[in-house]
Amino acid sequence: NKVVLAYSGGLDTSIIIPWLKENYGCEVIAVAGNVGQGKELDGLEEKAIKTGASKCYIEDLTQEFVEDLIFPTVKAGAVYEGKYLLGTSFARPVIAKRLVEIAKKEGADAICHGATGKGNDQVRFELTIKALAPDLDIIAPWRIWDIKSRDEEIDYANAHGIPVPVTKERPYSMDANIWHLSHEGGDLEDPWNEPKDDLLLICKTPEAAPDVPTYIEIDFEQGTPAAINGEKLGAVELVEKLNAYGAANGIGVADMVENRLVGMKSRGVYETPGGTILYAAHAALESITLDRQTMHYKEGVASKFAELVYDGFWYSPLREALSAFVDVTQANVTGTVRMKLYKGNCVAAGIKSPYSLYNEEYATFGEDAVYDQKDSAGFINLLGLPLKVHALMKQAHPDA
Ligand code: ARG
Ligand code: SIN
Repeated sequence: NKVVLAYSGGLDTSIIIPWLKENYGCEVIAVAGNVGQGKELDGLEEKAIKTGASKCYIEDLTQEFVEDLIFPTVKAGAVYEGKYLLGTSFARPVIAKRLVEIAKKEGADAICHGATGKGNDQVRFELTIKALAPDLDIIAPWRIWDIKSRDEEIDYANAHGIPVPVTKERPYSMDANIWHLSHEGGDLEDPWNEPKDDLLLICKTPEAAPDVPTYIEIDFEQGTPAAINGEKLGAVELVEKLNAYGAANGIGVADMVENRLVGMKSRGVYETPGGTILYAAHAALESITLDRQTMHYKEGVASKFAELVYDGFWYSPLREALSAFVDVTQANVTGTVRMKLYKGNCVAAGIKSPYSLYNEEYATFGEDAVYDQKDSAGFINLLGLPLKVHALMKQAHPDA
């Protein structure tokens, strides 16, 4: 029998290889998904084979990740608990989908992942597998084995001839991809502690960012970002460019205590420089292209969308239905936003769209010919009628 393993080359997923072989007597097929984490993937295949895998796939998922998961989430305006741009959350379904494809191709019986039993990631991996391959078994070693700490992992690795990385470990649990870098654990576990100066690995601090603002223009076509400063870019390149602009200007650091799906609160610091610029620019463009009712309704959809993505329900009927709604709303979200980036802030400094609903003729405080102020009297009379009736009743019955 065969097991497909979500493999990163790190200590956790390395010791899983001999552990699987020992406990299940199976062949292990390692699969590493490149979602733009920037780590050297060269040499990973050799490493997996040396560690005992019979085969290793290295899959480039970056473009699919950006086009099929990230951009639809930006269009939805989905943000978890007001701050988290979901960087880890939607990376899991794109990786799990490829694990399923390879498991089917290889005729594997099970998929194995290295997420712990205390986190969200286990849920996201497993819900995706259940949604796409209901017959596959799932193995989550962290919920089964007796290994409790990094020291015990190292002992296990030494006993099984697996090289332990000599690089000095940072005390944080991190997860990186093209969209974000997350930091959890270590001194961050006490929310009274301000993140240490050397925590950030992508973004400058606002203090260290340039003292002059940077202006960039972002074009959107039907809600999808398409160009920077007039230059059309592919999805991956566009996000990379925005990351560079954001990081240099100290933009996109979110420090928060969030509610995990599995019950506990956890502290995280997220670096999402390009994503933060994109959300702000997209919202600015929507402010002139969406009508009031659609915009307000969409706020509720965004919050539900974020919860679904966070909870691992990317491949679910409701997420797909909400995406269909979002796509309809984006029909006229086409135009250009000029963003001003300055010391941790990004604000829209200019917005334009051929489909703008913003009409100076209606909004002007100057003299106008299109809006008859007399119409407002009747409008307010009817709008206020229930309040008036209620107030009259209270007058008649002061104790009600
Ligand atoms: N708390 C974030 C989330 O649930 C980040 C998780 C980071 N995952 C990791 N394996 N380090 O999406
Ligand atoms: C993990 O526990 O594997 C990482 C943290 C999380 O999934 O929330």
